[in-house]
Amino acid sequence: MTTSACAAIVLAAGAGTRMHSNRPKVLQPIANRPMISYLLDTVSELAPERTIVVVGPGMEAVKEEVSPLPTVEQTQRLGTCHAVLTTFEAMKDFSGDVLILYGDTPLLAVTTISKMLAARRASHRPEIVVLGFRPEDPGEYGRLLTDVNGNLDRIVEHKDASPLQRAIGLCNAGMMVVDNTVLFKLLKKVKNNNGKGEYYLTDIVEIAKRTGLSCSLVEATNSSEVMGINTRSQLAAAEKAIQGRLRTKALDNGVTMTDPETVWLSSDTKFGRDVVIEPNVFFGPDVSIGDDVQVKAFCHIEGAKIASGTKIGPFARLRPGTELKQGVKIGNFVEIKEALVEQNAKINHLSYVGDAFVGREANIGAGTITCNYDGFSKEKTDIGENAFIGSNTALVAPIRIGKGGIVGAGSVITEDVEPDALAIARGAQKNLKQRAKSFRDRRRVRKGISDPK
Ligand code: UD1
Ligand code: CA
Repeated sequence: MTTSACAAIVLAAGAGTRMHSNRPKVLQPIANRPMISYLLDTVSELAPERTIVVVGPGMEAVKEEVSPLPTVEQTQRLGTCHAVLTTFEAMKDFSGDVLILYGDTPLLAVTTISKMLAARRASHRPEIVVLGFRPEDPGEYGRLLTDVNGNLDRIVEHKDASPLQRAIGLCNAGMMVVDNTVLFKLLKKVKNNNGKGEYYLTDIVEIAKRTGLSCSLVEATNSSEVMGINTRSQLAAAEKAIQGRLRTKALDNGVTMTDPETVWLSSDTKFGRDVVIEPNVFFGPDVSIGDDVQVKAFCHIEGAKIASGTKIGPFARLRPGTELKQGVKIGNFVEIKEALVEQNAKINHLSYVGDAFVGREANIGAGTITCNYDGFSKEKTDIGENAFIGSNTALVAPIRIGKGGIVGAGSVITEDVEPDALAIARGAQKNLKQRAKSFRDRRRVRKGISDPK
């Protein structure tokens, strides 16, 4: 995509103080994926000659997430300039354009990065290209100061900006492309005599201008794309943006959503064709859905593999380890966990089926509970094909209901049921003739009420 070689440096060593979290900021999830993975995917589309991630001390989890990309450790977090400086050794033998990216800016589009690389190739070969944008609320972003011709002069961080400078709407998105021959020389000149006492990467613009180098500005047209994520509110805004993208992608690929805004997706949710999703459905991680599946309103689904032609909900909860085969029906207020439900089986109302196998064409009646846990261990329930479990049945695991077996409603089943057997485990019914009438008569006498007849 680019004619001269490029390398990417991704800064991810920041403590993420404003998140108030024990988790490194760049690992905060958006649609169930760590924030930094979005940016790294985008960067990989450019196939840079090398990509180096700057991490902080103790950020083993970040190293693992970005692997096999190499990381360098910034042992003290002294600012964004200092962070780039830590890559000095790793970048020594590189020559070309250096992209500097912030790990907390996950929504950046590859087209924008390409525009920046193209700007570096303009006839006057600017040594630095800075990405600017005009957010609705400039908040704490650095402000871009331009001369009368609109050329970039310097970047002022919010903390150090005067009220007049803070009134500037043009902000620093945080991404730069810098010629490798000048980058480290400029970085070494940066001082930390500012509001935060940090070595700001942004200061290289002013230093470059002073030494007669040229800095260009590229403006991002979509301000949500370059949103930096420092706080939980910004994380929520990024989640919203990613959800929008995921919904559009699903719709474009042939999923029907009656009210897309109310459907929450995971970045890894997979859909077949002609899937219909009604309003207010939530998908957690690791869900795949086959063709012609109908998910009715108010379902919560995670870790589930759902084959074609199944009908789910309304108000169903599918938990991790659920596998539904073709044509299965799962109805309202049904919870399923760690269970394989074979073709055309039906679990239509008010049931809990966990650690279970449900055979083909089996019918699980309303209010069936697999009692899978005794307080110490989880046990398995095995329901054979064509079995029929009557309503309000407790199946105390470990338990096996043979093929074609029937369990009478209201049973508590503690012993295996043979194939084609009928099991009934409840108090036997007694019918006492006229007993209802004699009961009422006695009560009326006691209360002094006359017989209505
Ligand atoms: C930075 C910019 C600001 C810009 C904004 C865009 C600077 C000085 N300021 O501010 O002009 O408008 O981004 O979102 O660059 N990091 C390190 N090591 C450090 C400090 C930070 O690796 O010592 C990393 C962070 O993990 C983060 C990125 O650099 O991914 C940016 O740091 P952050 O503290 O979020 O900068 P902002 O205050 O947002
Ligand atoms: Ca930031």
